[in-house]
Amino acid sequence: MSAKAQVIVKPSPEALALEAADRFRRLATDSIATAGSFFVALSGGSTPRSLYRLLAESPFRDGIEWSGVHLFWGDERFVPADNPDSNYRAAREAFVSRVPIPPGNVRPIPTEAADPEAAAAQYEDTLRRSFSLSGGETPRFDLILLGLGPDAHTASLFPESPALDEHKHLVVATYVAKLAAWRITLTPPVLRSAHHVMFLIAGGDKAAVLRDVLEGPYDPRELPAQLAQPNEGDLTWLVDEAAASLLSAGLKWR
Ligand code: 6PG
Repeated sequence: MSAKAQVIVKPSPEALALEAADRFRRLATDSIATAGSFFVALSGGSTPRSLYRLLAESPFRDGIEWSGVHLFWGDERFVPADNPDSNYRAAREAFVSRVPIPPGNVRPIPTEAADPEAAAAQYEDTLRRSFSLSGGETPRFDLILLGLGPDAHTASLFPESPALDEHKHLVVATYVAKLAAWRITLTPPVLRSAHHVMFLIAGGDKAAVLRDVLEGPYDPRELPAQLAQPNEGDLTWLVDEAAASLLSAGLKWR
C-alpha cells in the first residue's frame, strides 16, 4: 500500500460512522476555508447511511457550512429517483432534505434520462460545467466516498467490466449482468483524481475481500477497488473491527 494510504480501524459501525462524519466535517471546513467550496461524491449502498444520518444531526448539521457544499454521486442505479434502490433517494431521506444546502448544489445522476447512456452523457456534462472543465480535463473532487462490494467492486465498477478500462469518459453506463441491472458510474480516472478518497467498510462479510484488496496482488480486473488510489491525493480505508479481522496487524491504525 502506498504511503498516502492508511487503514483506520474503529471498534463498531457506530464509531465508524462518527469518525467518517468528523472527517467529512473537517474536510468540508478546510476546503471551504481555502477554496470556498467542497465538492464531494457520495457513495451508495447501505454502509454510508449511518454517516448520512449523522450529517443531519448536531454537531454536524450546524458544524458544516452547507452553502459551500456541492453534492454529487459516485454511482447510481438506473431507477427513478423515488425508487427504493436509488442512491439519491437514500441520501436525500437521510440528510440532504434535512440540511440547509442550496438545491442547486445537489446534483444527482439524472436517471429520468431516456436511457442509461443518455444519463451518463448528461452527468458528464454536469461535471464539466460544475468543475468548469475544458478539453480533456478530469474533475478533482475534494472527497469521494466509496464502499466495497463483496466482489471487490466499488462505485459501479465491477470485476471484468469494460468500465474498468474507460479512460476517455468521466461517467459511463454499465450493465451488471449478475444484478440484471444498469448502473451509471464515475470512471477510474475520476476516482484517481480526487484529493481524498475515503472507503467506508463494515461487517465481517467484507473481511476476506478487504484482505484481498489490501494485501493481495494488484489485480484491478478482479479487484476493482484497487483502482481507487488517488494519483496525488490521500486514501483512507475507514473500517470496523469486523471488516478488519483478517488484515495483518501491521496494516492497521486504531
Ligand atoms: C452501490 C454502491 C456500491 C456499494 C457497495 C457496498 O450503488 O451499491 O455504490 O459500490 O458501495 O456495493 O455496499 P454496502 O455498503 O451496502 O455493503
